[in-house]
Amino acid sequence: MPPRTRKNDTKDDANKKAKTDAKVVTWTDLTQQPEDPIFKLLNECIADSDPSKINLSIGAYRDETGKPWVLPVVQKAKQILLSDPASNHEYFGLDGNRSFTEASARLILGQDSAAMKDKRVTHIQAVSGTGAVRLGADFLAKFRPGTVYITNPTWGNHPKIFAASHLKVVEYNYWDGKTRTIAYDTLLDNLNTAPVGSIFVLHACAHNPTGLDPTHDQWKQIASIMKERQLFPFFDCAYQGFASGDLDRDAWAVRYFVEQGFELLVAQSFSKNFGLYSERTGCLTGVFADKETTVKAHSQFCALVRCSISNAPGFGAKIVDIVLKDAALTKEWKENLKTMANRITLMREKLFEHLKKMETPGIWTHITSQIGMFSYTGLTLAQVAAIKSKFHVYMTDEGRVSMAGLNESNVKQFAEAVDWVVRNA
Ligand SMILES: Cc1ncc(COP(=O)(O)O)c(C=O)c1O
Repeated sequence: MPPRTRKNDTKDDANKKAKTDAKVVTWTDLTQQPEDPIFKLLNECIADSDPSKINLSIGAYRDETGKPWVLPVVQKAKQILLSDPASNHEYFGLDGNRSFTEASARLILGQDSAAMKDKRVTHIQAVSGTGAVRLGADFLAKFRPGTVYITNPTWGNHPKIFAASHLKVVEYNYWDGKTRTIAYDTLLDNLNTAPVGSIFVLHACAHNPTGLDPTHDQWKQIASIMKERQLFPFFDCAYQGFASGDLDRDAWAVRYFVEQGFELLVAQSFSKNFGLYSERTGCLTGVFADKETTVKAHSQFCALVRCSISNAPGFGAKIVDIVLKDAALTKEWKENLKTMANRITLMREKLFEHLKKMETPGIWTHITSQIGMFSYTGLTLAQVAAIKSKFHVYMTDEGRVSMAGLNESNVKQFAEAVDWVVRNA
């Protein structure tokens, strides 16, 4: 029986419509999607059988032996979860594990957040940082559409996510290749000339890929221009605590913007700071001007979740929740964070020392001034290609390395490879 298309269609109308609509499906628009560059690089590295290969591609922490690290505090939380007789696999509400999302919001906004006291904050569980960015993008596309400005260079997924939400995406300057610092003056120009009301994606800390964050004074100036021009801040926070080893320091920019009275969104990821990469643990927090708007926004967040993932994944959120509601476990987590952040800082120092000793041509101070998981080396595309083919070192085409892939056994080898390509490629 042909489908009835509209309420008042007769059976004949529906038959006629079914005939006109009939066409052979040929998949003519179905083209092969190129492999995602970062996962392509990772697969190439996995397939490389050279024992001396160095994997600096994907942003995932590795311990001193080059292995993934399950945080000791996460191990403990898993035991607690497994031995809890009340633990089950029921659905959460549409907004996810509320104890977890509340703790996430407090983590980024501060334990005594005035905005939370005023009930101007809403939070919802998301499928990790990526899912939180996408949820926020869908929300903005529906209720506050405008051009979205992302940093240049940027985390490769930003343009794809915002485009998928049908928002117009434009880049703003972030990196000065000559000085290997933030392109601060052009960044300010971009803020000053963007259409009033545009959305700006800001990296809360440890900018991916450059590892460079504005200073507090620079953040203040950025905030002042954004306020004047009514630009909407959308913070992406994928490295809180992982960047500096200090959760509050890494949250400074977000808290400052909230204190300045901005309405904003924050996408939080617990992939890096809890090492919960595949457990897809994230949260989208919205700060609004008043309680009424906040309640409405929450209902819309829930509606977006219902038609996309319907219900958030449980495991990672339960682990984070167990840790964050227990003072002793939270203290231990902070120590685990320091272990990761300090090891990366040490690798930065070692790399810098080796390059200095070899008098490798070029400026290398950015290696130690950048923070977080990544270093934006400044190597050219040709040098990146040469380092891969000659030395089996895997980094992104733009010259970004994941510092977590370095350790005592390979940092000198990596420095020597850099020295060679800088002189010869
Ligand atoms: C800037 C930025 N945002 C968001 C994410 C999201 O990560 P995930 O979806 O794994 O939590 C990442 C991960 O690399 C990132 O670097």
